Amino acid sequence: MTRNPESRLRRLRQSAPVRDLVRETSLEARQLVLPMFVREGLSEPQPIRSMPGVVQHSLDSLRAAATDAAETGVGGIMLFGVPEVRDAHGSGADDPDGILNVATAAVAAEVGDALVVQTDLCLDEFTDHGHCGVLGATGAVDNDATLERYVAMGLAQARAGSQLLGLSGMMDGQVAAVRQELDAEGFHDTLVLGYAAKYASAFYGPFREAVDSQLQGDRRTYQLDPGNRREGVREALFDQDEGADIVMVKPAMAFLDVLREVRDTVDVPVWAYQVSGEYAMIEAAAGNGWIDRRRAVLESLLSIRRAGADAVLTYWAVEAARWLAER
Ligand code: PBG
Repeated sequence: MTRNPESRLRRLRQSAPVRDLVRETSLEARQLVLPMFVREGLSEPQPIRSMPGVVQHSLDSLRAAATDAAETGVGGIMLFGVPEVRDAHGSGADDPDGILNVATAAVAAEVGDALVVQTDLCLDEFTDHGHCGVLGATGAVDNDATLERYVAMGLAQARAGSQLLGLSGMMDGQVAAVRQELDAEGFHDTLVLGYAAKYASAFYGPFREAVDSQLQGDRRTYQLDPGNRREGVREALFDQDEGADIVMVKPAMAFLDVLREVRDTVDVPVWAYQVSGEYAMIEAAAGNGWIDRRRAVLESLLSIRRAGADAVLTYWAVEAARWLAER
């Protein structure tokens, strides 16, 4: 049997230096964003049972951890607030004295020049019913009434010093509404990340504990149905048209096909969120000795990059950055 010499594909795999030289995809600390939780009223950080190694921070421990993150060279941190008191309209979200806004100001002052300080812009942590928006007379989430709340929240976050607003609520028109208000108030440099293709996913399970979620039921009337790829791409195109600087696909590993298609379709940076359930699965398997933790984490991140993510939100951001620096 004759062979084309070029068919000896193993030549490219023969040694670590050759493999390093020809690897198509890179993974760098600057491409990682660390989600962080800060809880009102805490004096000590509190572990999250379903996410071993992740904590709800006090204001002080948040500041220290943010400084730590900046030293590893990660590209950014994404802040989530857990308030002590909630109400139907999520009043704590746009209150300048609300936990997320106070924490943003503190962290921006500390590390705002070293990495991109980002905030989650959504009402679910602040509402007593746990939905991402306000409810109308029928009990359904009212899209346009929610936009007014997002606009107020976005402005409060920008004033607190957030450099990038992560619009994760999945209301129609949210990017345009927030962008317009930011520009009207002179916040032309505040970046907007549209969680364009955010699916109604079982993989958010551990996050609900992380933010002490009050939700009964689910978010299927606003987050995407996991069966839909075209619709995910359409959401990304809408967000781009509305002025999103960056768009997101979330979760990551169960939606890598959507990620690839969005990357091939839009012109803006595309990020992916490796969510709490993805984190918990690998931690649980590694904790049982069933998989090699470090290899599994790095392979998952490299694969999300390979599928098209320009950057990845991951709870392993700081640890992965340290591993990458060792190599
Ligand atoms: C909602 C929000 C969620 C996550 C981030 N933002 C939860 C949800 O939509 O139910 C999940 C993140 C994760 O699971 O790591 N503001």
